[in-house]
Amino acid sequence: MAEQHSSKSIMWVTIIVATVLIAIVYALTVNKGSSNANTSSAADEADIRIQPVAKFELAKAEAPAASGPRDGATIYNTVCGACHNTGAAGAPKIDDKAAWASRLASGKDALIKSVTNGKGAMPAKGGATLSDAEIKSVVEYVMGKAK
Ligand code: HEC
Repeated sequence: MAEQHSSKSIMWVTIIVATVLIAIVYALTVNKGSSNANTSSAADEADIRIQPVAKFELAKAEAPAASGPRDGATIYNTVCGACHNTGAAGAPKIDDKAAWASRLASGKDALIKSVTNGKGAMPAKGGATLSDAEIKSVVEYVMGKAK
């Protein structure tokens, strides 16, 4: 009888503990959900959704803010690589020597002009704010990589 009693108690304790745990988990889940909806999380969620685009924008926005001219490699990696590493927008890929041969042949000044003013699907200055000196160094960097 005593054994039966204690196994019944254990059953009830187990049920109560399980109920409390479920209640806690439920409460946490609901709180999370409502705080997401109530606070500024709507904006946060939007931020998260546009993150890849925002990062690209960030790279562009940082261009003029940097102190002093940045070197060609830095500019290439933050601005130009988005298209020229992948061939996005039909850009000649940096390692596609055949695609660059005729462009390189037109000479550094012509390429600087293309980058400054934009060409085809390439926006002026690759869409960033770059000084003349920075354009020159990034074009020299590209020419070195592409030949
Ligand atoms: C939005 C994509 C994009 C970005 C960003 C971009 N390019 Fe381009 N780039 C292109 C495309 C597309 C072409 C081919 C244009 C054409 O010939 O119609 C091109 C062509 C070029 C050329 C050859 C121009 C010529 O006269 O043949 C150079 C040099 C060049 N890019 C350098 C750069 C540099 C340096 C940057 C960074 C400052 C950069 N690009 C950023 C898309 C891009």
